Amino acid sequence: MHPKPTYISIPAGSTKGAFEDAWHTTVQALPDWYIVDEFFQNNNNIPWIEDVHAQGRVYWLKAGELSKTLAEVENILTWLTQNNANRQQSVAVIGGGTVLDAGLFAASIYQRGMQKWSLPTTLLAAVDAGIGGKNGVNFMGFKNYIGTITQPDFVVSDFRVLDSLEAVDVLNGWMEMAKHALIADPALWDSMKQFGTIPPTKTVHILIHEAAAIKKRIVEADEYESGLRKTLNFGHTVGHALESAAASRSENLPHGIAVGLGMMVSLHWSADQAADPGIQRELVDAAHCIKRWLTRAVPAYVQIAVNAADLDALWAFMEMDKKNDTNGVQEVRLTDIGQAEWNQLLSRSAFGTSWSSAHGGV
Ligand SMILES: NC(=O)c1ccc[n+]([C@@H]2O[C@H](COP(=O)([O-])OP(=O)(O)OC[C@H]3O[C@@H](n4cnc5c(N)ncnc54)[C@H](O)[C@@H]3O)[C@@H](O)[C@H]2O)c1
Repeated sequence: MHPKPTYISIPAGSTKGAFEDAWHTTVQALPDWYIVDEFFQNNNNIPWIEDVHAQGRVYWLKAGELSKTLAEVENILTWLTQNNANRQQSVAVIGGGTVLDAGLFAASIYQRGMQKWSLPTTLLAAVDAGIGGKNGVNFMGFKNYIGTITQPDFVVSDFRVLDSLEAVDVLNGWMEMAKHALIADPALWDSMKQFGTIPPTKTVHILIHEAAAIKKRIVEADEYESGLRKTLNFGHTVGHALESAAASRSENLPHGIAVGLGMMVSLHWSADQAADPGIQRELVDAAHCIKRWLTRAVPAYVQIAVNAADLDALWAFMEMDKKNDTNGVQEVRLTDIGQAEWNQLLSRSAFGTSWSSAHGGV
């Protein structure tokens, strides 16, 4: 069995503050340092955070891609150094994917690594970014280019914190849940596709648990991404290119929307290669389901991203994707719902065809 992390799940009925049960009942020791999404400075979702802030143990980090930089990581390292933090101590990182990426990366390299707590507060982080030990920052316009794979010691899920998420952030997480279901779990996909619109998180805790369990299973089987873990990149080659293209226009395109649009392309590409007409239909239906969720939830974002898409520019970003090898752009292909193949070569012309099938009518 993999030695870490230890996964701790806080029951929805807990009477303590968010995440608090983790150290009071499980570990009996509080983390020493806290890197926390600034969002929690201004509301009382995590009431105990005020006390540790008063003790000077909190580094507030603004959520967003602009915080995933080497400069911000250096600020965190400076703060740890100025506070005489040492490698026998622990750091709890509390936030969504961006705060976890920057904060856990800093904690992974400070004095070659401290004990780390991953405390995800967005749906996306609860099912994906908070699990798996990949931490990193963007570099020279490329997503997640610099980083490490080092497992946190503890991952705590407390789905109660998800109640305050904005609709777009529920969508972001829902798309990663869809990704997990599509690559690995047809039963979860069957449950998810029943929803015509994206449901409130408090009504789907079981599905969130199942989606997080898929990520845990895949990481346990292939921590360093030599094979199976690559399937978690489903939809992400196009998705990351869309994010990079939006950033180059100084626009913000939320990760889940980019991934959703990317998965639609990958589903059509997969369907084009499926011999069985039944499977072909299922894959195209899945693309339509994602399109329905996206266009009902965030029509303006979808319009902007699709209308602004310059396929040559997207392809140039895709050719720089860090998952590629010398043969070219590597993509994940579904051979059925719940079955994914990695290291599949995607050509420029197939990308163009699949993009048109997916987004021609948006
Ligand atoms: N490391 C990995 O394995 C991995 C996996 C998937 C995605 N990611 C990364 O995750 C990032 C996206 O993460 P994200 O979608 O969580 O974005 P995010 O961290 O920017 O959070 C989104 C918004 O939610 C707010 N927020 C956080 N918790 C909240 C709460 N409980 N209630 C209300 N608002 C809250 C934040 O302040 C922010 O405004 C991307 O940079 C992506 O590359 C990393």
